[in-house]
Amino acid sequence: MKQIRSIKGTHDILPKDSANWHQLESTIHDVCTKFGYKEIRTPIFEDTNLFFRSVGEDTDIVSKEMYTWKDKNGTSLTLRPELTASVVRSYIQHNLGSQSPLQRLYYIGSLFRRERPQKGRQRQFHQFGIEAFGSKYPEQEAEVIAIAWHIILQVGLLKKTKLQINSIGSSECRSTYQQALKDFFSPHLTKLSEVSQKRLIKNPLRILDTKNEEELSLLKNAPKISEYYSKEDKDHFEEVKRFLKNMDIPFIINPTLVRGLDYYTKTVFEFTSEDLGSQNALLGGGRYDGLVENLGGKPIPGIGFAAGMERFLLVIKENKLEFKPQSPDIYFICIDKAGIATLLNIANKLRTKGYIIISDMLRKSMKAQFKDANKLGARYVLILGEDELKNRTIRFKNLTNGNQENIKQENIIEFFNNLKN
Ligand code: HAM
Repeated sequence: MKQIRSIKGTHDILPKDSANWHQLESTIHDVCTKFGYKEIRTPIFEDTNLFFRSVGEDTDIVSKEMYTWKDKNGTSLTLRPELTASVVRSYIQHNLGSQSPLQRLYYIGSLFRRERPQKGRQRQFHQFGIEAFGSKYPEQEAEVIAIAWHIILQVGLLKKTKLQINSIGSSECRSTYQQALKDFFSPHLTKLSEVSQKRLIKNPLRILDTKNEEELSLLKNAPKISEYYSKEDKDHFEEVKRFLKNMDIPFIINPTLVRGLDYYTKTVFEFTSEDLGSQNALLGGGRYDGLVENLGGKPIPGIGFAAGMERFLLVIKENKLEFKPQSPDIYFICIDKAGIATLLNIANKLRTKGYIIISDMLRKSMKAQFKDANKLGARYVLILGEDELKNRTIRFKNLTNGNQENIKQENIIEFFNNLKN
């Protein structure tokens, strides 16, 4: 029979990799908690309109990459391609703003984008991210970027990443700038790629994203967004930079960083890593002061970021910073089936004391069980053989220093309580 395989662009996370996932996830929970952020989990599919109205109809994500289908009642549903929109929907729906003027949220979850799969780019992938609602002040940028920085530091990737920041100004400044870009590029229309010609009509800012050589050389003389900042935009960005410097978080200003989602205002940022190749963004985010209102809520400012977890793990692997799976404390060997019940009983008691205990389920020989204990890197071995069963004892062996002794079964917990190494 033909074997059924996973769908292109989707990946199983196999047991050999789960220690890395657990470690990354626990770092995320740990750092976010230290900053007072609380976890939010939203459904994997949403009303398609949510993404139209937030990410934007003309973005690559919404126009090309969404998994969308009609439900039986005719509603258009979409597998979430990102999480900011879902979190904002939930924030409005549950009136989270009324519980506290500052809402600090974080999430971990899977996302779906029908992109061309390549290194660091999948059709189902995972992100962790944060969203902070309520503050329009630049210290909120400082806090959000510091969270990303701490997570990157804690997984050992600080030297492998660069922080790029930019300000795309408030929406008023941006519409004047977009017009200036249109005026600048219109005489050069034939030099623009088909994609950029379309972008020029719908979202000229995205042309700044280009990798096309001819467009890049045109861009050198194009108007710069910084020339269009209002005083408020300029002061805000200066404060963000000052706060980052004060926290000793190095950054590069990239005036062409615009990000591919429509909801951003003012500060945008990315942490990139050269180890990722062409998909070099490890983490991206920015401020979105109009989004809550656009989706039907009050005019509440917001800012956040999201990071590709597979990309994090790729860089961790490439730099040999992987986490080792936890080895068992005890491998419990039983070589007589009459002893199985005793083994299960004692192992259960020891587990309540926090020990990681593995025992054989295939009734293998003593030699084979010892081999398994060594292979798994167990620290200690407990042996229940015929003699031990008869004498109601257990043989203990420390695999690190070779020490051995017989212990009375009823004293086993006490023995481990007093064990020094
Ligand atoms: P984004 O830049 O679309 O932003 O995605 C954030 C991160 O998700 C990227 O930097 C990348 O690491 C990862 N990523 C994106 N697409 C893929 C893919 N196909 N395969 C693997 N990893 C991928 C957002 O999603 C915004 N919601 C971020 C945000 C939160 N802005 C404000 N708050």
